[in-house]
Amino acid sequence: MGVFRIRSALSNPMMETTASSPGKIILVGEHAVVYGQPALAVPVNEVTATATVRSSTVGSGLIIQAINLEQELTLAQSASEGLARAARLTLEHLGAAEPDVLITINSTIPPASGLGSGAAVSAAIIRSLATYLGFPLTNSETSALVFEVEKLYHGTPSGIDNTVVCYNRPVYFVRGSPPEIFHPKHSFSIVIGDTGVPSPTRDTVKAVRTKWESNPSKCDAIFSEIGAITQLARSAIVNGDILELGVLLNRNQELLELLGVSSQELHNLITSALDMGAFGAKLSGGGGGGNMIAIGPEDRIEAIRRSLLQAGAARVISSIIGSQG
Ligand code: MEV
Repeated sequence: MGVFRIRSALSNPMMETTASSPGKIILVGEHAVVYGQPALAVPVNEVTATATVRSSTVGSGLIIQAINLEQELTLAQSASEGLARAARLTLEHLGAAEPDVLITINSTIPPASGLGSGAAVSAAIIRSLATYLGFPLTNSETSALVFEVEKLYHGTPSGIDNTVVCYNRPVYFVRGSPPEIFHPKHSFSIVIGDTGVPSPTRDTVKAVRTKWESNPSKCDAIFSEIGAITQLARSAIVNGDILELGVLLNRNQELLELLGVSSQELHNLITSALDMGAFGAKLSGGGGGGNMIAIGPEDRIEAIRRSLLQAGAARVISSIIGSQG
């Protein structure tokens, strides 16, 4: 199979392929999802990572240029570099030899902020390279490969980030189970405020692990309640009850505070959104910094957006959840 694939790719090379992946946010369930509880995540198509594969000079091998990071990598760096690891895993999966190509990456997803930048960049590389070689991958295949790269970034990822950016749909996710796509009854706006403080997921996941090791029964009770919130949040979204969803976000935030993954900057943004009429607000992703999210009545969304900027948000993104059906 591998040999056939190499021959096919060489006899019918496409000169250029491009693939994009969205950012993501976790609505409810982060951290608890690492311990087997469900979580809900949605794509954020207002920010994207794009990879373009172009034929290069014979003998050049595979070179990756990450424009935003001002980084250039070769396949040999795949032991420590996620971008090169994504390309190597793709070639191994397809049984293909290293092609002479230049892969250019452009991303508007802020890194280390809880928006799934690493997963989206990996997904874009994997899809564009596989398509270039003549073997476009399914969402599930792409997601499995991105998951392997995520291990390099995060150590013990649950798999939720790779799933949502590869399926590009709202997902109900339980570690180790196939993702369930869910459909909001009505689309609704969400405001995403970035504290500007880096939030390396690896660090907060490790901090929660340490907390869990020192008090497993207390942490397990918190994870269980977060899991119950996720179930209720899914029902609220599917039934179009955004007010109820807001109440659930607020309780989820209290539990994340008990886990120790919130911060003063997140608290400031959350408070300002709630003061401006948000139904609910919480941190999203690993925490410690990074992003918070807020939902509210449609006629308050612009005011919430402005209040976050006034409260010191480095960047605010408004996104519509459920607009893709
Ligand atoms: C990171 O986006 C979400 C966490 O739950 C980690 C994970 O699920 O791998 C904090």
